[in-house]
Amino acid sequence: MSNKTNQQWGGRFSEPTDAFVARFTASVDFDKRLYKQDIQGSVAHARMLTQVGVLTQEECDAILRGLGEIRVEIERGEFEWSVALEDVHMNIEAALTHKIGVIGKKLHTGRSRNDQVATDIRLYLRDETDLILDELSRLQQGLLELAEREADTIMPGFTHLQTAQPVTFGHHLMAWFEMLSRDYERFVDCRKRINILPLGAAALAGTTYPIDRHYTAELLKFSAPAGNSLDAVSDRDFAIEFCAASSVLLMHMTRMSEELVLWASAQFNFVDLPDRFCTGSSIMPQKKNPDVPELVRGKSGRVYGHLFSLLTLMKSQPLAYNKDNQEDKEPLFDTVDTVKGCLRAFADMVPALQARKEVMREAALRGFSTATDLADYLVRKGVAFRDAHEVVGLSVAYGIRMGKDLGRWNCLNYSSSRA
Ligand code: ARG
Repeated sequence: MSNKTNQQWGGRFSEPTDAFVARFTASVDFDKRLYKQDIQGSVAHARMLTQVGVLTQEECDAILRGLGEIRVEIERGEFEWSVALEDVHMNIEAALTHKIGVIGKKLHTGRSRNDQVATDIRLYLRDETDLILDELSRLQQGLLELAEREADTIMPGFTHLQTAQPVTFGHHLMAWFEMLSRDYERFVDCRKRINILPLGAAALAGTTYPIDRHYTAELLKFSAPAGNSLDAVSDRDFAIEFCAASSVLLMHMTRMSEELVLWASAQFNFVDLPDRFCTGSSIMPQKKNPDVPELVRGKSGRVYGHLFSLLTLMKSQPLAYNKDNQEDKEPLFDTVDTVKGCLRAFADMVPALQARKEVMREAALRGFSTATDLADYLVRKGVAFRDAHEVVGLSVAYGIRMGKDLGRWNCLNYSSSRA
């Protein structure tokens, strides 16, 4: 052992790993987050090995008991993670062997860290995708309820951020709802490709043990084992897809954020964001800043960045597993955390939004927002649309000269202005 830094693969080495290299190549500081999935995968693997007769029932029982204890220790914060043991997989396996002796060394039969880590990430991402789907639904539900409450609230609709035609606030909110419906579908679709079992691929070439991958898949609730072992251990396209779906979601959330920031300004004054979602200024006493939408708008940057990191990480990698793939975790974890945080903040905030109905209505009366309706009215009275457009255009020009908007230009003050 004196010549080795690592009991799991030290056999063929004649000098210890350089201390810096050991730290440089270790992933335990961040992949320990996968401990639950790592244990879950190992439990299924041990059960399967027992089912096919590679392990005895007594060995399996000892392994499951040991893994159960390790899980409790980790959750109580009593587990000692070691950088010398590189990653979450070898830390847990070493602890198991320390606990139950030589039987612990049998767990890795017919398995490699390559198929193990791919399995862990898929289990993790499947769980997180389910949480994200729940949170997305909660936000959609909030939007739906707000849209129902505001179904009759008139506001100006915009194109080019110029007043276009009147719409209702409910109508506007349902546009956000539709965007999120497509995001929801994207995550559901992505989940199908996450939910495939890599275990059994071993390092890259499969294994000579009589394993039963279908049984392992069933135990872990994967829809099927992977079709090709080289692909199973190497590709991270499912994580890239997840980051792509997250990027589109965040892009949509930046659009909502931008509108909320505008609407909360003194200039628009369309909505009141509840105080608990805003912060003040240390110098300007009057300030109430829309921090939550601003921050969500800003956080899109890191998610887009993570998508690009993963695409670049995967690009040009020869088959099969390469150490490059260890770099998949931090961008993925941060994407998950960011998406969950943004969704939670929005799902909590949206139902508490207060529309300033009068201000919105007032704004809809400005900017000649009913000009198209007036033209359509003239068409119904028999005027050709192009002529109607021209006539209304002239009326708008007249209104601008007179400082009067169409909405205020009722017959009464029209005749009184002529008198
Ligand atoms: N820590 C590694 C990762 O995150 C686990 C797989 C390493 N496999 C290997 N043969 N070095 O990808």
